[in-house]
Order: sequence, then C-alpha cells, then structure tokens
Amino acid sequence: MNTIILGIESSCDDTSAAVIKDGYLLSNVIAGQAVHEAYGGVVPELASRAHQQNIVPVVHEALKRADIQKEELSAVAFTRGPGLMGSLLVGVSFAKGFARSLGIPLIDVNHLTGHVMAHFIRTEGETPDEPDYPFLCLLVSGGNSQIILVKAYNDMQILGQTIDDAAGEAIDKCSKVMGLGYPGGPIIDKLARQGNPQAYAFSKPHIPELNYSFSGLKTSFLYFLRDRLKEDPEFIAHHKEDLAASLEATVVDILMDKLRKAAQQYQIKEIALAGGVSANNGLRNAFREHAARYGWKIFIPKFSYTTDNAAMIAITGYFKYRDKVFCGIDAPAYSRVSM
Ligand code: KG4
Repeated sequence: MNTIILGIESSCDDTSAAVIKDGYLLSNVIAGQAVHEAYGGVVPELASRAHQQNIVPVVHEALKRADIQKEELSAVAFTRGPGLMGSLLVGVSFAKGFARSLGIPLIDVNHLTGHVMAHFIRTEGETPDEPDYPFLCLLVSGGNSQIILVKAYNDMQILGQTIDDAAGEAIDKCSKVMGLGYPGGPIIDKLARQGNPQAYAFSKPHIPELNYSFSGLKTSFLYFLRDRLKEDPEFIAHHKEDLAASLEATVVDILMDKLRKAAQQYQIKEIALAGGVSANNGLRNAFREHAARYGWKIFIPKFSYTTDNAAMIAITGYFKYRDKVFCGIDAPAYSRVSM
C-alpha cells in the first residue's frame, strides 16, 4: 500500500501545501503574501489573515496537481512551530480538522527540522543526491543561524547558533537602512554581483565556540553609512553595489569561519546548507570553494526548497509516518520550540 502524506506549512508569510507519495514529491504549492512589502517586514496580523484566505485553495491545488483524492491520503503533516503564532494556528487548525474528518493520523513537524530534511525530497526521474548521516547543516534564515549535527531525521544537535540577530535578519535590516526594498536578501544578492566585496570592511564578532552574532555587524554598517552620508549625501546611491558586496562578503565569512571550525572539530566532510539565506549566490560560491579546498562533499538545496515550503514538512512527515510517530488532536502550536 502507498504512503501518501499531505504537508502543510504556515509558520510565517507563505501558505504552502505539498503531497509526497512513497518519498517522492508529487506537488508543492506556495502562496506568498505581497501585502507585507509596503510595510518593510512581515505584519503578523496580516499574515494570519492571508493564511486564512489561502489555506483551502492551496491545499485543493496541491491535491489537484498531485492527482490525489483526499481519501487516498495516509496522514497530514503540519508545521507546529517555531513561527508566528497567528500564522501557525491557521495551518495547525486546518491540519487537525482535515485529518480528523478523514480519520487519518496527524504528524507534527518542527519547521527547522523540515528545512534540514529538504535535502531528502526526491523527485521522480531525478537521481537522489542526499547526505549520509552524520552530516553538518548550516541553517540560515530570517530567524535562525545554526550549525546542526544531523545524526538522523529524529536526532539533531545544535552545535552553535546566533546569540542575537540571524544572518538574514541582519542583511534585511542593512538593506532597509540603505533604502532598498523588502525582503533585502535577494536585492543585496543581486547588487553584490556587480560590486567589489573588498571595498569596505565591517566589524566581525569574536564569539566563543561555534556560536554566531550579527548585531555588531548591523551597528557597524549603520555607523559607517552615517559617517559617509555626512560627507556625501548621495553616498548610498553612488556605492550601493560595493556596499552590498562588502556586506554579503562579511556575512559569508562569519558563517563559513564557524562552519569550518565545526567540520574540523567533528571530523565531518558531508556539509549541507538550508534556509532562506541559502539562496544567496555568495554563500553558495563559498560552499563550492570550501568543497574544492577542504574535500567537503556539499549539498546545496534547489532554489524552490530554500524558502518556506510544505514539501520539506511532507518529507519529514513521511519519515515519522514510517516510524508511526503521530501526535494528538490536542497538540498546541509553539511559537518557539527547539529541535
Ligand atoms: O527561511 P526563510 O524563507 O524564512 C524564515 O526566516 O523562516 O528565510 C528568509 C530570509 C530573509 O531574511 C531573506 O532576506 C533571506 O532569507 N534571503 C536571502 C536571499 N533570498 C532570501 N538572503 C540573501 N540572499 C538571497 N538570495
């Protein structure tokens, strides 16, 4: 008998549903929310309202594209946390109601675990390229910057993480200071390709062990701009490519320094990248350079799996389903939950 999992993701500002059959992806539908652009950041109340509008059509479309009837589903997997509470509640409530009405199990998935497990999403006709356990995963998004030792889908250890801002958050805030749009990550990435990464030097943190910090970089960037703007009010407009390239290079250096240390310390050469910032070209190039220099075997996700998506929730749900790890109808959403 086939195992068919419906995955649901609604932790931030993307409503997504995906169908996975026996470990292979059949559909992955994502509805973004342009409503936040005008505010320069995600507005939680608007996000939950948009999820409410999107959830039914998105699930309907995911089942349609997968050519699966809801009665064929084996289980419903959903993101339980971490994320925005109002956003999570829409997906969690929908998943509970849907699973209950079909009389099938419910599977709760940690959003961060989902990002890591995106490396195991298989597509028919493509040769799987998956890391072997144990591997290290650098998870970088708007809310997290972590180095994770992945021993199994259900056995992950956070070796280091940010003590303040996440890498994506720092990039987004610097981009906002420059008067660029939201989210800043993709804009900085594009501008950086035309700039000189060595044009300016920004401060790098000295944080013990394998932890990160990005708030000092943000402040250093802000003060640097403030001083230069006094001399030339058009400084940003004249130098935005160099600013973007230097900022990106600093973030990438900070991330790779600790990752290299972790790889040495744990003697692991299978290294994966995950989360929204993994779309960044500078970071992807740094991964390739490290692979060549240190003999790492690297795993870089497809662009479609870098941002929030339900395919990563469905594949994690598939692994839990095989081990019969289900949750009850009373499982609450968590805005903060560790792996
Ligand atoms: O994982 P994600 O979609 O959402 C969560 O934070 O959970 O990550 C979003 C972050 C944002 O900070 C965004 O600016 C950043 O990922 N991002 C990028 C790029 N694309 C998205 N940062 C740098 N370069 C990119 N190309």
